[in-house]
Amino acid sequence: MGTNQLLQAVKINDWELKSRVVMAPMTRGFANNDTGEVGLDILNYYKKRAKDGVGIIITEGINPSIRGKGTFGIPGLYTESQVKSWKSVTEAVHEEGGLIVAQLWHVGRLTHRDLTGGYPPQAPSPIKANGLVHRLRKPFEEPEEMSVNDINHVINEYALAARNAVKAGFDGVEVHAAHGYLIDQFNSSITNNRTDGYGVTSEGRLRFMREVLEAVVKEVGKEKTIVRFSEIKDDIPEFKWVDPVQNVKEFIRIFKEVNIEILHPSTNDFSQKITTNMTFHQLVRKYWDGVIIGVGKLDVETANEAIQEGTIDIAAFGRPLLANPDFVQKVKMGKGLNSYQSSIHLKRLN
Ligand SMILES: Cc1cc2nc3c(=O)[nH]c(=O)nc-3n(C[C@H](O)[C@H](O)[C@H](O)COP(=O)(O)O)c2cc1C
Repeated sequence: MGTNQLLQAVKINDWELKSRVVMAPMTRGFANNDTGEVGLDILNYYKKRAKDGVGIIITEGINPSIRGKGTFGIPGLYTESQVKSWKSVTEAVHEEGGLIVAQLWHVGRLTHRDLTGGYPPQAPSPIKANGLVHRLRKPFEEPEEMSVNDINHVINEYALAARNAVKAGFDGVEVHAAHGYLIDQFNSSITNNRTDGYGVTSEGRLRFMREVLEAVVKEVGKEKTIVRFSEIKDDIPEFKWVDPVQNVKEFIRIFKEVNIEILHPSTNDFSQKITTNMTFHQLVRKYWDGVIIGVGKLDVETANEAIQEGTIDIAAFGRPLLANPDFVQKVKMGKGLNSYQSSIHLKRLN
């Protein structure tokens, strides 16, 4: 292996990362289920990774409103007490010289009123998802079709959550537009059969994402806003884009129009081809000169190679960072890594 670029410090806009290792956003479900506040256990979990030398931590998905909640123990950024609880976390991360970005996550139709304060799930169209709600184990409910008023209301909720993220001391915000959740439900013709300006054409379907991004950039700044997008959908494992090149081009056109600078294309397997000769990240790189975060079953060697060849700038690790809170130090010392086991590593915050 050549020089370990992954472990070198790097400057991205105003952020000074201690390494090119990113902690991928991972839902853990340890926030207070009633208040959406985070506690000392969560503070210590992120602080440990910052101390280890992770360049930037992207938090677990955080709800911009109670209606965006899709399982138990998800934190929020829509009340003063939630903001206060996150402030302790960002301070702890900063004390260790780390950086932390809040991922904003609204699940749209992928929930049930038992989780959303009694409100029905919201979505672009009243199309029910197949399957059961995470941990609640009840079937997904038919969502309420969002009116244009509802759409504007939810965009304002994203804006408020982004403002609250800044107030709580976060270094930036990642908009979760991936994996079949609310924004992705607007983006896809499978879940969006609206006949107004938020549907019909690809431009119409992507309009909600565009407006959310505009609102977040206004609060946080374009140099501190990341967007995550994907082909994969958590509730439709077999889903594939008909024409990935076209899809990627359409997404990137929007990102350029709203002046986004950092993309986080999400795939389960970084090395898997999405077209006959390109992986998802290679395809994005073809049309994107800005910053790209790699992710998806990455190992140190693959991440290094992808950084060296210029496909990605920084590399996100999910499960390896759950199994190894000292991931960066282990890689530095050439020590073996613990392999991830959900039965062990999801049970508690280590
Ligand atoms: C326990 C767990 C929770 C996750 N929660 C989220 C989430 O809240 N938001 C998100 O965008 N991705 C989430 N993901 C996906 C990860 O961010 C990442 O893309 C995925 O784990 C692939 O990276 P890895 O192979 O290094 O684990 C989650 C993954 C895991 C394992």
